[in-house]
Amino acid sequence: MSTPVARTSPPSGSRAPRRLPQRWRRLLLATHVIVAVAWIGVSAGMVALGTMALITDDLAVVVGVYEAMAMFDETIITITSVGATLTGILLALLTPWGLFRHWWILTKLVITLAIFTSAFTLTHPWVLASIDDARASLESGSRLITEPQEMITAGSPVMLLMLTTAAVISFYKPWGRIRRSNRTPAAKPAETPVVLREVRQEAEGVVSLELADPQGRPLPQWVPGAHVDLVLPSGKVRQYSLCSDPGDTGTYRVGILREPEGRGGSVEAHALRPGQALAIRGPRNNFPLADAPAYLFIAGGIGITPLIPMLHQVAAAGKPWRLVYGGRSFMTMAYLDELRQFVPQQIQLVPQDTAGLPDLEGALRGAPEGCAVYCCGPEGLINAVEQLVPTACPSGQLHVERFAAADVDHGEKVPFELELARSEQQLHVPADRSTLEVLREVRPELDASCEDGVCGTCVLSVLSGVPEHRDSILASTERDRTDVFYPCVSRARSQRLVVDL
Ligand code: FES
Repeated sequence: MSTPVARTSPPSGSRAPRRLPQRWRRLLLATHVIVAVAWIGVSAGMVALGTMALITDDLAVVVGVYEAMAMFDETIITITSVGATLTGILLALLTPWGLFRHWWILTKLVITLAIFTSAFTLTHPWVLASIDDARASLESGSRLITEPQEMITAGSPVMLLMLTTAAVISFYKPWGRIRRSNRTPAAKPAETPVVLREVRQEAEGVVSLELADPQGRPLPQWVPGAHVDLVLPSGKVRQYSLCSDPGDTGTYRVGILREPEGRGGSVEAHALRPGQALAIRGPRNNFPLADAPAYLFIAGGIGITPLIPMLHQVAAAGKPWRLVYGGRSFMTMAYLDELRQFVPQQIQLVPQDTAGLPDLEGALRGAPEGCAVYCCGPEGLINAVEQLVPTACPSGQLHVERFAAADVDHGEKVPFELELARSEQQLHVPADRSTLEVLREVRPELDASCEDGVCGTCVLSVLSGVPEHRDSILASTERDRTDVFYPCVSRARSQRLVVDL
């Protein structure tokens, strides 16, 4: 399933982050790093000087050391500390990081303010007092180690430790977002209100819902393979393939299998009655009908639904096609009357209770050269077809649509950098967070539905880099595609991925 996604504007209550052009941001970041490193370097020098002053017996050196510390304090440390703080604050304010959006930035701010406060109220007065004490020692000829001198020797390493901590957390960016800023509401995806016109029992456990615009206006156009997100009265959102006539925009038909052990969506849908106000999102199409010299359709159970409009289109185009449709029994196989209107030789109905499992290998071996194979149904059926196609139908182009995320171990997740080309934003996607989660920090309006790599709502175009596809949308033959990416589950194989956003 793949299509462009309708995106909405940012929610009125959420403030879009101020953005700095990439060149300026890099310059600001480089300046910040340089002055911050200089600040740490001078602080390390202060630790060395304070220690030297305490251990040397040469009183003239002691005076010189404290005078040097006072000079550094008033010049280089002031310049570097103010420079690092200002560039750091500017960087936070002018990028999506924000000053109060992430714990690591807030921690750095608190550390910086603590150092500033102690530098003005404690450290500098200690240095000045130490100079006087050192001069007094020099005049009296006897070494006096006074309290300010001891405090400087003890306090300087503490400051250096705080600065180093601030630098380290800049690299690792720990602890995620501040709770308050997590409350930025995600924009509600665009919805079309519909009314349920008719509920029809199609087979045991399968109903058709016919949806129409409440005012009788045409619904959005669609093509075979498309699905809609159905927003149920409880707020649950479920994806159902459209299985009516694409030429009829007055009504949409979806077929729904009741799954009592499921997450509740299908049970709720089966309880709906005509007249119920609902909403849909879409249609979207991740399972489009490709042009091919011939077609083999393989359906299992409710997987027949996206294939029905395809059969009509292919039949109308006069292309050779064949359908293999398996189910538990004829009683559970929906839309049989509609299918029986086609030429019977083109359709093989395989009820498992009397005919066993479909002969998939035979069907694939008999498919014409270059045939498009469309398969929709339970995971076991799709897996079997995916395994058979390379040997039984090597010239075939396989297209599959799954109901749920494929049970595949994609291995360890590794962090990567995500660049949003149009907005020139750089994001770090850590191993323990999804790409969509990170993206939503800066683009809360991004549309997504299943968040499980099944519906295709979140699709993005990739401009450079290599995606690591973890979705259940792309067929096995499409998994090396580098042009699309489903950020709710997918990640990157390359260190950097650039998306058209
Ligand atoms: Fe459904 Fe990403 S594929 S939200």
